[in-house]
Amino acid sequence: MKTKKQPNILLTGTPGVGKTTLGKELAQRTGLTYVNIGDLAQEGQLFDGYDEEYQCPILDEDRVVDELDEKMSEGGVIVDYHGCDLFPERWFDIVFVLRTDNTQLYTRLEARGYTGKKLQDNVQCEIFQTIYEEAMEAYSKEIVHQLPSNTPEDMEHNLDQIVQWTEQWMKDHN
Ligand SMILES: Nc1ncnc2c1ncn2[C@@H]1O[C@H](COP(=O)(O)OP(=O)(O)OP(=O)(O)O)[C@@H](O)[C@H]1O
Ligand SMILES: [Mg+2]
Repeated sequence: MKTKKQPNILLTGTPGVGKTTLGKELAQRTGLTYVNIGDLAQEGQLFDGYDEEYQCPILDEDRVVDELDEKMSEGGVIVDYHGCDLFPERWFDIVFVLRTDNTQLYTRLEARGYTGKKLQDNVQCEIFQTIYEEAMEAYSKEIVHQLPSNTPEDMEHNLDQIVQWTEQWMKDHN
């Protein structure tokens, strides 16, 4: 296996917790490459059917993994997705699960135009810590970290922490 010069980072969590906002800023500050799985799938039409209940296309997970595998083995990628057990465990050096308080998340998703079952299911996903549990099952527990994502101050703090972690990783691996 090739040795990576830069780490791969997974940003995951319930829709609306702030993965994209954090990920793009993090890419700016670290020089790592930001990859949004939703956008990647859209661009490559990496879908496999349509979910009538949620009115959205279903991700073709195998094709997404194939599409990214080589890039991931080179390192230096920040992946943003609201799920995490579809990716190979070997891809990531660290996994961050962003967490947002229910009321806060409700307000954010409502502002996005989510209503009814879609709004409720997403808030419930956060209440049940579904993605955190998914991450703890899919990856070694030592590399999974929760980050509060309620305020702009939280985001600043998270950025500082991850930038620092990235710099340390590069010192240790180069
Ligand atoms: N730490 C934060 N404090 C306050 N607001 C935030 C914070 N992080 C994100 N937001 C706001 O919350 C909203 C959702 O953020 P964002 O689109 O980054 O979430 P996401 O996790 O990428 O969602 P999705 O999974 O649906 O793509 C945006 O309006 C963003 O400005
Ligand atoms: Mg997003």
